[in-house]
Amino acid sequence: MRLLKLNKAFTLMESGPVVLVTTHDGEKNNIMTISWTMVLDFTPVFAITTGEWNYSFAALRGNKECVIAIPTVDMLNQVVGIGTCSGADTDKFAKFKLTPVHGKVVRAPLIKECLANIECKVIDIVSKHNIVVLEGVVAYVDSGRKEKRMVHAVGDGTFIVDGRKLDRRKLMASKIPAGL
Ligand SMILES: Cc1cc2nc3c(=O)[nH]c(=O)nc-3n(C[C@H](O)[C@H](O)[C@H](O)COP(=O)(O)O)c2cc1C
Repeated sequence: MRLLKLNKAFTLMESGPVVLVTTHDGEKNNIMTISWTMVLDFTPVFAITTGEWNYSFAALRGNKECVIAIPTVDMLNQVVGIGTCSGADTDKFAKFKLTPVHGKVVRAPLIKECLANIECKVIDIVSKHNIVVLEGVVAYVDSGRKEKRMVHAVGDGTFIVDGRKLDRRKLMASKIPAGL
């Protein structure tokens, strides 16, 4: 993967893809699937919704680090599988044949097979609404990868795959940060 300018990292999330979130609890790596995500600003700051019902949460709260890994449509069965079992009793990297890769800043691993990865620090947890606020610190994209279509969860077990990309950059010029 090549480094992606950090000021472009939010473009990996703005379209609202289902993502994988990796953690490291001091002993082992884990992965969970997250569809409740939000971009909070350009810097980039993100939010995910999760809580104590997931094994990953203790590592998120304890180490205050994670990686948002962005899978593509060819990985959908792995994405669903990862979201329907627990790191409490499963090594998900082994079970779903994914490769953990060391990042530059956080201990949580990147996922080699994903289209992109964002190393993140947990900067806030809004307990009342189970919102975990993340600041991206390094971003990567595998631009050589053939399949680039991301998936979006409807919420009922069905998914929508990326379709046509429409260009309205000129119309939006006043809202797009310089250099994006
Ligand atoms: C498509 C999909 C989307 C999901 N989105 C979320 C989510 O946004 N928030 C959440 O807390 N759990 C979500 N889950 C459930 C977790 O991924 C699931 O509970 C997982 O087993 C947690 O892993 P862990 O116990 O190893 O942390 C989702 C699961 C699937 C299959």
